[in-house]
Amino acid sequence: MSLLPHGGLLVQAFNPEKDVTHINKVIELDAISLSDLELIAIGGYSPIEGFLTQEDYESVVEHTRLASGVVWSIPITLPVAKDVAATLQPGDEAKLVYGDAVYGVIEVADIYEPNKRKEALLIYGTEDLEHPGVKRLHERPSIYVGGKITLVKRLEQKFPAYSFDPFETRQLFAEKGWKTIVGFQTRNPVHRAHEYIQKAALETIDGLFLNPLVGETKSDDVSAAIRMESYEVLLKNYYPENRVQLGVFPAAMRYAGPKEAIFHALVRKNYGCTHFIVGRDHAGVGDYYGTYDAQKIFEQFTEDELGITPLKFEHSFYCNKCEGMATTKTCSHDSSAHVILSGTKVREMLRNGEVPPSTFSRKEVVDVLIKGMRQEVIK
Ligand code: ADX
Repeated sequence: MSLLPHGGLLVQAFNPEKDVTHINKVIELDAISLSDLELIAIGGYSPIEGFLTQEDYESVVEHTRLASGVVWSIPITLPVAKDVAATLQPGDEAKLVYGDAVYGVIEVADIYEPNKRKEALLIYGTEDLEHPGVKRLHERPSIYVGGKITLVKRLEQKFPAYSFDPFETRQLFAEKGWKTIVGFQTRNPVHRAHEYIQKAALETIDGLFLNPLVGETKSDDVSAAIRMESYEVLLKNYYPENRVQLGVFPAAMRYAGPKEAIFHALVRKNYGCTHFIVGRDHAGVGDYYGTYDAQKIFEQFTEDELGITPLKFEHSFYCNKCEGMATTKTCSHDSSAHVILSGTKVREMLRNGEVPPSTFSRKEVVDVLIKGMRQEVIK
């Protein structure tokens, strides 16, 4: 395989044989740490081998690097309540439990109290509790536990046909003969703007890895099940089959804009991508970040340090005069001719009972969204 994972080695920490019966300390996971546990174990977060220790955590928050100097932008932490923390000591093993099941084990390296205000400011760029990522940061328990993990039980796959570990996607891309692979992160149905930038990338890149995030998202984002159906109809009707691979990304959405864009790129590198699309306001929410902040942050690192090339795209729109998708780089008409697209706008229209026009979203996608919304309302 030509492209190395971040830090050089793909972490593999799944061991269903590991005996956990003698371990009596228990840490309960929330949905976010459960998905992080699995992603660490399957190498999605390589070179991270566990929940961050204080040294790595502070280094990531302050310098966007692990203590080793390797670039890393989102703290992968294991928050526990004070009373649970009081039962733990460095050197302990603790079972990582979700619901009734043991999913993993952590070798506790340290137990520390983070400065969450600092984390909010430096990772999310704001202390505002209205920001969904900052809100959740403060809602989670107040003490962090660092240490290497082992995954002992795989999570139930919600989308088994599209669930691949990084070593599997690497194999798939090699089998397809793709030398260059562009990763696409999304938490929305694929609209015309997304399709435009994906296809622009496909004009020069061998394959597209459409990698929608299906972990925790804000409650007003379109549910993952509906989105998956919308991707299927879109790919079937509008994409050449041999140029696209659909696969889910099981992480939680952080809404951390620029810092999350770096994280999204590094994880896709681990899945085997050589390139990564960063469009307008990547991983943004509300107006916390500038339209191109998530592109600019890539300039802080060398290409070697990142090991994946960002493909930066301008805000794209449908131009009524060009009669096609465009950006200000390719269109000379003024904004009165432009249909400005966004996932948020499409969601708003659907909620108000309006049908988004084909300049926003393909008819097949709109049909899936309308059907899905009706089912969710009826449920
Ligand atoms: S994200 O939170 O996962 O980034 P979304 O699913 O909306 O949100 O975006 C997926 C990718 O498409 C991101 O790289 C984003 O920057 C890009 N993107 C979304 N809409 C546009 C647009 N109109 N023009 C250019 N890029 C866009």
